[in-house]
Amino acid sequence: MVSMWDDGRLCYGGDYNPEQWPAATWREDVALMRRARINLVTVGVFAWSRLEPAPGRYDFGWLDEVLDLLHDGGIRVALATPTASPPPWFSLAHPDALPVTADGVRLHHGSRDTYCAAAPAYRAAARGIAATLAARYAHHPAVALWHVHNEYGTTCHCPHAEAAFRRWLVERHGDLDTLNAAWATSFWSQHYTDWAYVSTPRATQYLGNPGQLLDFRRFWSDTLLAAYVEQRDLLTAANPALPVTTNYVLGDWVPVDHARWAAEVDLVAVDHYPSAVDGGAEEQTALAADLARGWARHGRRRAATRRGAAPADGPAGWLLMESAASQIHTTGRSHTKEPGRMARHSLSHVARGSRGAMFFQWRAPAGGAERFHSALVPHTGPDTRVFRETVRLGEHLDRLAEVTAGEVTASVALAFDAASGWALRHPGMPSTLLDGHAELAAAHRALWRAGYGCDIVVPGDPLDRYRLLVLPAVYLADDDVAGWVRAHVEAGGHLLVSYLSGVADQHGRVHLGGYPGAYRDLLGLRVEEFHPLAADEQVLLSGGGTGRIWSETVHLCGAEPVGTYVGGVLDGRPAVTRHRTGDGTAWYLSTRPDDRTYRRLLTEVARTAGLAPVCPDAPPGVEAVRRAGPQGSWLFLLNHTDRPQRVPVTGVDLFTDTPADGTVVLPAGGVAVVREEPAPMASVTATPPMTDRTPPA
Ligand code: GLA
Repeated sequence: MVSMWDDGRLCYGGDYNPEQWPAATWREDVALMRRARINLVTVGVFAWSRLEPAPGRYDFGWLDEVLDLLHDGGIRVALATPTASPPPWFSLAHPDALPVTADGVRLHHGSRDTYCAAAPAYRAAARGIAATLAARYAHHPAVALWHVHNEYGTTCHCPHAEAAFRRWLVERHGDLDTLNAAWATSFWSQHYTDWAYVSTPRATQYLGNPGQLLDFRRFWSDTLLAAYVEQRDLLTAANPALPVTTNYVLGDWVPVDHARWAAEVDLVAVDHYPSAVDGGAEEQTALAADLARGWARHGRRRAATRRGAAPADGPAGWLLMESAASQIHTTGRSHTKEPGRMARHSLSHVARGSRGAMFFQWRAPAGGAERFHSALVPHTGPDTRVFRETVRLGEHLDRLAEVTAGEVTASVALAFDAASGWALRHPGMPSTLLDGHAELAAAHRALWRAGYGCDIVVPGDPLDRYRLLVLPAVYLADDDVAGWVRAHVEAGGHLLVSYLSGVADQHGRVHLGGYPGAYRDLLGLRVEEFHPLAADEQVLLSGGGTGRIWSETVHLCGAEPVGTYVGGVLDGRPAVTRHRTGDGTAWYLSTRPDDRTYRRLLTEVARTAGLAPVCPDAPPGVEAVRRAGPQGSWLFLLNHTDRPQRVPVTGVDLFTDTPADGTVVLPAGGVAVVREEPAPMASVTATPPMTDRTPPA
């Protein structure tokens, strides 16, 4: 069924803020959008003070006119609820709804996101404006999608938040004995004898309680989700045919478990701004897109299970809701994307399942805090490189509608668990260099550079389609998670576990008896001591590689060493091991190898699992992603080098509509999408016999 947001084309557009411009500009905007083949714009994200300039006094005239103009121009609208930025009158009328930081500072309006999402006044006001918008626009022909709020991710320590946190804890733990055990409160005299004594994790003299901090993040994830769900339900009640989404912001700092949220949105939508400016930006883009696809699949399955139905077949749609046309502000200054990079990033997302490419923002404003953020129409206007690239990308996206029938099919599953990332950030961990997202990224990068596609899975997701499961520092493992990994191995699957995975339970309490308690037996080893490394320190590995961040004393209990430490206190001890487990192999990695070594190790692990890269003949620097389904197979080839590249492939080049008879030539920095004819075999080879001991480097 084609839903409102999905008219069969890929979505193309971005945040459009007509409230910042005079009406004459709106007309020019629509004309330029048509020229660029823009077909979806997000309107009203931060427009609350213009929609409701005084309590209960609404001004919808401008929005009516804009929606009509867009509709007349054939441009669909993702209509936002503006609840990420309450107007000044709201914070003055409800000072108790202003957020309080961990050290007790109450923040004031003047920026955005200045509210406590647990404050009743804020929630009532948010429901109010959402219901008012729903009543007026739920059947407007321009509106294709509701976009609730913007990048949920705030926390607060005000009395409302504290009371809500206690209620949440009662629900989660049931009684104080359970909470005391979960948080190990006998340590440092934190034993609670009354719920009233339990507070949010405010600023403390020294290290805070790890269980409390973890629960605080889980609480905020659930509280923000409840805030989303109550808006969603109002919007859906007004028109059940209109889908509802909210845009995820990525990173461990965000107290949102996006996987859990995915079952509550009709469409997973992510914002992505790579922080790297060199080649790392391409890897980060691939990771963000793989995460989004993983959440979309996970959410579809969870939602179906809740309904008692089987998940639908075919691709689980998701959407890149925001990205940057050019300048991104990172490392203290703005960096300009080189020609062609905007398209490569957009098409990397589309290759991995995005239903289009959306940007922040349509037109660069003259004023406001983000006046120097890039836009599809820059300050200089449409006679610019960026706008010409915008037009060109629109032409290309228009030619790609058919790829939405294909789904990325990977045989490697890379596990990610938001709570593990939060737990690793506790300052009492053995190293402050631990970063769950960076661990995920390092494993993903190794696969990406080796040319293997992967799906990102949430612990508990079905693994039957994967030959290899990778756990990169997935720190928390209760019995369910440990059983999930064990079942994969017992079914003949291969496994790579990196350091700190499975070391603690869901509350962050260490599994005793040797690390990693959850997987010791599977891995055939026992880790006795950690040897975290300083930021500028490295260990040498046999085979010539190096390790950073972490090293360990590993005792073998059935596993065999594959690589060892060279020199230092761990000289000659195992650094990388493998353990035969029936038909599979369970590998262990006790340090963070340099990128080259990690790539070589994962290549060896994948080869042992019988896997082959997506496009084994692609030259270095060319990224290959395949979407395939019953209706065909499409190969995306992204040339990240500064010279033309040739890739062997047979089919039809969709941008030029010409046959690719055995080879496609990619211009420097360019992209080709080829409908493959005939469709290739799956990238799984017969399992080769296990090779003799092969050092990873
Ligand atoms: C986020 C927000 C946007 C804008 C961009 C800037 O994604 O949702 O409103 O601030 O960041 O990069």
